[in-house]
Amino acid sequence: MISPLQIFARKKRDQTPLAMLALYDAPSARIACDAGLDAILVGDSIGNTLLGYDSTLPVTLDDIALHTGAVARGVKASHRPDVAIVADMPFGSYATPELAASGAVKLLQAGAHAVKIEGTPKGVFEKLAEVGVPAMGHIGFTPQSMLMFDSVVQGRTAEQGAQLLEEAQWIAERGAFGLVLEAMTSDVAARITGSLAISTVGIGAGAGCDGQVLVWHDAVGLTPQMFRFAKNFADTAHLWHEAIGAYVSQVQTREFPTPQHAWEMSEEELKVWENIADLEPLDEQPF
Ligand code: KIV
Repeated sequence: MISPLQIFARKKRDQTPLAMLALYDAPSARIACDAGLDAILVGDSIGNTLLGYDSTLPVTLDDIALHTGAVARGVKASHRPDVAIVADMPFGSYATPELAASGAVKLLQAGAHAVKIEGTPKGVFEKLAEVGVPAMGHIGFTPQSMLMFDSVVQGRTAEQGAQLLEEAQWIAERGAFGLVLEAMTSDVAARITGSLAISTVGIGAGAGCDGQVLVWHDAVGLTPQMFRFAKNFADTAHLWHEAIGAYVSQVQTREFPTPQHAWEMSEEELKVWENIADLEPLDEQPF
């Protein structure tokens, strides 16, 4: 089997932007693959988008493993079953290289092709390479360390730019196949992209990256308040609201369900039952 991750290198080589989404379930994965998506991130943003937390910190390895399995099944059910799946290693799950290795193995066994690690944790990329787990880095604003940042946007000064470039090269030298650049000035992101042989995927890092990643809930209009860097490509919250309103109303008026949505016992069988059980005949059906 050719690794689905080759899409990252191929797109970098051909200079055609890669489109990635953070998403977390089988139906969304199937729709996204059929719509032409290049790669999926089972992100720990699931903490904010699906699980109702106000940060990514409470997300566990079990949460990511469960949703990676669901995404993998959705990808398989699509017309493009070879779309790459990267699973996020959540907060605390790579505190040591050994912990990282056992957690990453679990995510690969759940269906991921690679894992993503935030920051520059010592020995982790090396350990993952040793056990055969492809890894992606993530620098700039890294939500798992949000308590350490003074502001969201990184790389506003020459010193910060140099620091980010150094981090990017450090991660690439340790065998990562790709790097997420989050919330940093476009100038720094473009310099990093130009200096690396591996693929950069930006979110809030401008158009000079090799690809872009966006959170599903932002893309389809399910996030009430979005960061400046996110874009809402369709207001599906409005459609969901309309659909559920129509459902509630049709249940209340008995328009739904109709006989078309139900099954009936044959008249013959019904008579047998009525005789055996001495049942009262039912009132006329209301529809
Ligand atoms: O968890 C996530 O969705 C992410 C992206 C924002 C890159 O890490």
